[in-house]
Amino acid sequence: MLHVDRVFKTFDGDDSRRVTHPVFEGFSLDVADGEFVAVLGPSGCGKTTLLRMIAGFESPDSGRIVFEGVDVVGPASDRVVVFQQPGLFPWLDVRRNVAFGLQLRGRRIDWTPVDEILATVGLAEFARHAPYELSGGMQQRVALARSLVMRPKMLLMDEPFAALDAHLRHAMQVFLRDLWLDVRTTILFITHDVEEAIVLAERVVVLGSNPGRILGELDARDVHPGSVDLLDNADYRRLRHRVVELLGEVP
Ligand SMILES: Nc1ncnc2c1ncn2[C@@H]1O[C@H](COP(=O)(O)OP(=O)(O)OP(=O)(O)O)[C@@H](O)[C@H]1O
Ligand SMILES: [Mg+2]
Repeated sequence: MLHVDRVFKTFDGDDSRRVTHPVFEGFSLDVADGEFVAVLGPSGCGKTTLLRMIAGFESPDSGRIVFEGVDVVGPASDRVVVFQQPGLFPWLDVRRNVAFGLQLRGRRIDWTPVDEILATVGLAEFARHAPYELSGGMQQRVALARSLVMRPKMLLMDEPFAALDAHLRHAMQVFLRDLWLDVRTTILFITHDVEEAIVLAERVVVLGSNPGRILGELDARDVHPGSVDLLDNADYRRLRHRVVELLGEVP
């Protein structure tokens, strides 16, 4: 479904930093339809840049990004980004926030999918509330609902739970995993949290820096967010050890 094919990307440095390091030098990644992939890597390795290029906000210097057989040349509603901050409109109630993207499409709003999605994210009762009346986790669920109502083929998530406290973060991980099992939208999830990557995704892609490159990939289908204490889980410990090993290879 998604092919990132030998992508090169360098940002122009400012005067104080004459030497600019390429973020990517021939980076490739494939994501299959319906897959849940986590991209894990140290700060500055290019995770957000990769996501912005797939979203169409940023273009590669060379190489191709092909989505569903078509070259990505700009943003489109089939690839929707969920950011770290929910970015809700404070003057709109929850229901209107969720409907915002549909409204931009210019047609009359069909409220049925809006209300369905609100129920899916467990916020039907809060439809008429203002965003500030909701907790951080609930706001992030509204942001997720706003993306899902567009029926995207792919969700691009850039550390969406990083601003949440540990408890809420765990709840959101369980929630997102269940949601994915239900809707099977393809997800590319960026994080620098090893545990989050392993429990959420089916496949974990570990990146290194300078230039951004794949150090290794892990099959994490057997570990899920949930009840068991992760440290008692041998699969989890093995995967975690492998990630540490891979990241240790970074010069
Ligand atoms: N708009 C920009 N202009 C100049 N340099 C940029 C720009 N965006 C990113 N960079 C540089 O590209 C590199 C990769 O940045 P990026 O934000 O993709 O990293 P990241 O992996 O998302 O890091 P983090 O985990 O801290 O979010 C960094 O060296 C950064 O300074
Ligand atoms: Mg980033």
